[in-house]
Amino acid sequence: MQQISDDVLREYEHLKDALNQHNHRYYVLDDPSVPDSEYDRQMRELQAIEAQYPGLLSEDSPSQRVGGKALESFTQVRHTVAMLSLENAFSDAELEDFDRRVKDRLNYAAQKNPTEIEFACEPKLDGVAVSLLYENGQLVRGATRGDGSVGEDITANVRTIKSIPLKLRGDNIPSLLEVRGEIYLPRPGFDALNAKAIAAGEKTFVNPRNAAAGSLRQLDSKITASRPLEMCAYSVGQFEAEVTPDSHTHMLETLGGWGFKINEHVVAVMGIAACEDYYSAMAERRDQLTYDIDGIVYKVNNLALQQRLGFVAKAPRWAIARKFPAQEEMTKLLDVEFQVGRTGAITPVARLAPVFVGGVTVSNATLHNGDEIKRLGVCIGDTVIIRRAGDVIPQIAKVILEKRPEDAQQIVFPERCPVCQSSVKRAEGEAVARCTGGLFCGAQIKEAIKHFASRKAMDIDGLGDKLVELLVDAGSIYSVADLFELNVDQLLGLERMADKSATNLTAAITASKETTLAKFLYSLGIREVGEATAQTLANNFGSLEAVIEADAEQLLDVDDIGPVVAKHIVNFFSNPDNLSIIQALRESGVNWADIDQNAQASQPLKGQTWVLTGGMEIMSRAEAKDRLQALGAKVAGSVSAKTSQVVAGPGAGSKLTKAQSLDIPVLDEAGFLEYLNRLG
Ligand code: IVH
Repeated sequence: MQQISDDVLREYEHLKDALNQHNHRYYVLDDPSVPDSEYDRQMRELQAIEAQYPGLLSEDSPSQRVGGKALESFTQVRHTVAMLSLENAFSDAELEDFDRRVKDRLNYAAQKNPTEIEFACEPKLDGVAVSLLYENGQLVRGATRGDGSVGEDITANVRTIKSIPLKLRGDNIPSLLEVRGEIYLPRPGFDALNAKAIAAGEKTFVNPRNAAAGSLRQLDSKITASRPLEMCAYSVGQFEAEVTPDSHTHMLETLGGWGFKINEHVVAVMGIAACEDYYSAMAERRDQLTYDIDGIVYKVNNLALQQRLGFVAKAPRWAIARKFPAQEEMTKLLDVEFQVGRTGAITPVARLAPVFVGGVTVSNATLHNGDEIKRLGVCIGDTVIIRRAGDVIPQIAKVILEKRPEDAQQIVFPERCPVCQSSVKRAEGEAVARCTGGLFCGAQIKEAIKHFASRKAMDIDGLGDKLVELLVDAGSIYSVADLFELNVDQLLGLERMADKSATNLTAAITASKETTLAKFLYSLGIREVGEATAQTLANNFGSLEAVIEADAEQLLDVDDIGPVVAKHIVNFFSNPDNLSIIQALRESGVNWADIDQNAQASQPLKGQTWVLTGGMEIMSRAEAKDRLQALGAKVAGSVSAKTSQVVAGPGAGSKLTKAQSLDIPVLDEAGFLEYLNRLG
C-alpha cells in the first residue's frame, strides 16, 4: 500500500471540491466562477496526484468525465419504479378537459369553496429521458427509459455529462434517490457537431434529439464525452430521504440544491387559464431558447394530490403534455428549380408537396448548393423530412431512402444560367456556383433592383418584388438608375396599377433620393457588404469618393474589413458600368450628407460593441441599431467578453444572463433612450 501524506490527501480533496464547484457554476448555473485557464490548471494538478497515487482515484472524481474504456454492449436495467410517459393535448379544449378530469377525480365540485388547481408549468425538453440513481449521494447508475420497465445501463456515458452531479451537494442528502430528467443537446452544440460532420464528409444528424440519443447510445464513452450534452431534472422515481417536499416545484428546488440543473422557466400557476397563458408566452419565446422544446408539461403541483390522482396504464393522471405545432414533417420532393440571385449565385430550391410544419404551410425549401444536394443524396420523387424552426427558412433535414420510388430522378446542376443562358462557374474553394452573365442576366438585374429598393437600402415605399419583376419584364427599367426616370404613365401601363398607387410610387421614388452614405453604399449590392460593413465604410471614409478611391490596403486598415470584402469592394468600383450607374444616380438627385472626418464627437461610440436583446417597446430594434451605428458603435448579435454594453428589453434570455456573468453593463430600454438623449 502506497503511503499518502495528509497534505496530499487534503490537497486532493480540496481540488476535487473546487473542480466540482466550478463545474456546478459553469454547467448547472450558467455562471462561471473562474476562467477556463484556472479550471484547466486545477484539473491538471488533480490528474497529476491521481497519476502518482492511483489508489485515490474514485468514480466521483471530476477527472472521470472524459470517458473510459469502451463497452462490449449495454446491460439491461429493470426500473424499480416504472418510467411513464405523458398523455398529450393538442388544443386548449383538450387541456381544459384534463383540468376537468382532475377536478372531477378530486371531487372539487362537492367542496364548499371550489378553487382552481395549482399546476407546475415547464418546457417539454426535446431530448432523451434518463434515470439517475444515487446511493448516499453518489451517482451509481444511469439508465435509459427503454420500454418504461426495462432500460439500458448508460452509467459510463452519463458520467461524462458535466451538468450531472457525480456526487450530491448540500444538506440532507437522501440515502436513496432516483432522479429523472431529460438529456438534450443545445442548438449551438448541435450546429457545431453537424458542421464538423459536414467538413469531414460524414452524415449529419437530423435534429438535436437524434444527436442526443445517438451520443448516449455510444459504447465508447469518450465519444459521449466529446458531445456538449446537458441534463435537466424534472421528477424523482425512488426516494428515501428525511426531507419530504410537499409540491413538485419544491421538489425541483430541493433537487437544484443537491446540484441538479433545473429548467429556468419552471413556474407554478393557479388554474388552467394561466396554463394557457404560459403556453402562449413560451410558444413566442421558443425560437429564442438555445435548446429545442416540443411543448409544455403541466403537472398538478401538490404531491399529495398527485398521489390521490394516481396513474392510468402508461401515464400519470396528474400531468399532461400540451404539444407545440411540429417543426418536422414528412413530404414529397416534387421538383427542383434553380434560382439566380443578385450576385448570380445559383440556388437550388426544392418544390414540395405542401405540408404544415412549424405553424405554416411550406411548399418550398432551399437546398443551398450542389454540395448540399450531394450530401443529402436527394432525388426528385423522394420522401423527405422538412424542418422549419422559428423564422428560419425551411430545410430538408433528411431523405427517407426506404420510400424512394423506382422512378426517382437524379438532380442535375445546370451548366448554363436558367435565365440568361450564360455559363455557370464555381470559383475554387467556393460552394456557390454563379451565373457569369452579370448585368446581362435578367435575374441579376431584377435582384439588384429589389435590393436597391428594399427597406434597409433606399427604402422605396411601394416598390415591392413583384412590381420590380413587372417593370423589368416590360422593358421599362434595365438598371437601378432607370428607376428615377420612371413616370406615372409608364407605371399606369402595368397590370393592376391604379392612378393613386402610381402617383404614390413616383413620390416615394423621389423621397428616397434623400439618403445616407451608409444606406447608399449598402444599396449598391456590393458582394459581402451588408448593412454593418456599409456603415463602417461610411464612418471611416466619410464620402463616396473616398470609398471609390480606396485601394485594398486602405480598406484592410479598417476594422472588420478582411481581404475578401476588400477585394469585392475594389472590384466593384473598378467596373466602369457600376461607376456610370452611380454617376447617373447622382445626376438624378440621389444625395446624402458626407460625414465630417474631423468631427470625432459625432462618433462617441467608436470602438464599442453593443448587443441588443429582448423586446423594445418605444424605439424599434432597427432604429436602435441605426442610431448606435451612426454614433460609431458596432452592433453584434452575440455577447462576448468584447461586448461593451447590452440593451436588454422584456423577454431577454441567455444573452442577458451571459452579459451578467461577464459583468458587462446592461441598460433597459428607458435607460438606453436616456443615454442616447444625453449623447444628443
Ligand atoms: S415528466 C410521469 N417533464 O417527455 C411524468 N417529461 O412524452 C414523466 N419530457 O418521457 C415525465 N420534458 O422524456 C416530464 N418537463 C418534463 C419533460 C418531460 C421532456 C419527456 C420525457 C418523457 C416524455 C413524455
